[in-house]
Parts: sequence; C-alpha cells; structure tokens
Amino acid sequence: MAISFSSQALEAFHQLLALYPDKSAALIPVLHLAKREFKTITPEVMSYVAGLLDVPPTRVMDVVSFYTLFPREEEGRYVIQVCATLSCSLMGAGTIIDYLQKKLNIGIGETTADKRFTLKKVECLGSCGTAPVMQINDDYYENLTPARIDEILASLP
Ligand code: FES
Repeated sequence: MAISFSSQALEAFHQLLALYPDKSAALIPVLHLAKREFKTITPEVMSYVAGLLDVPPTRVMDVVSFYTLFPREEEGRYVIQVCATLSCSLMGAGTIIDYLQKKLNIGIGETTADKRFTLKKVECLGSCGTAPVMQINDDYYENLTPARIDEILASLP
C-alpha cells in the first residue's frame, strides 16, 4: 500500500506551502514533517515527498543524504547525538563518546538491540560554552561527565 500523510500532516503540509513562494522551497520543512510522520525517510517516503512538491526524487535524495537530521534507517526511541567538534573535544567529548559506547554496548551510528538508543557523533551543536554537549531527541544536555550521563539515561522514561 502506498504511503501518505495523515489528515493532520496533510493540513500541516498545506500550511507550510503557504509560507513559500513555490512548492520546491518547502522541501526541508516538509522533510521534517515527513520525519515526524514516518520516523524514517525511506526511498518510498522520498518518492512521496518528491511527488507532493513536484521535484525530482534525486533532489530529495540529495537533501536527505546531506543532513544527518533525516534518518534513512530505523532509529532507537532516543537518538543521542554527541558533539565532537573542537570545544567539546577539548572538554572531553572523546571520553563521553567512549563511555556511551561501552555503557550502551554499541558503536557510533548503531542502535541498541532493544531499539531504545541510537548513538551518533555530530558536528557543533551550538552550545560550545557548556561543552561537552549532547542532544537526546529535542533536548540538550551540557557540561557532561560520565556520572551525569548515568543520571540522564536513568531519568529517561
Ligand atoms: S563544539 Fe560542541 S557545541 Fe560547539
């Protein structure tokens, strides 16, 4: 069965289109909408979005493959993104990443067997003054230490 947005997502889609001079300019916001709706941006989702916006599927693929924001494979319930850029590196991001890999028993880009966590290493999250920093789904966690990570992960429902 072909995929399609829910009625609520379709309404949001039409509201987004009204904000842009032409359909193709709404590609990134529509991909965010597709991520919320489908979780994973599969080739089928890319084709669907391309059809909605009247753009070639290859254009959608170019954008999806450029940004880490649009997962092409199923991710865990919690996506942990650890900044590994200069300020965070100087403040111990390497230790944080090693700790998370051992604690979760996964490597970078992998998901735990129970589908609870996905671990990613990313570029600057824009909070360099509170390095080292990670983002879990939409929330930031700053001034990280291994002990703080234990607290954070234990607090997640
Ligand atoms: S270098 Fe890590 S948030 Fe900027």
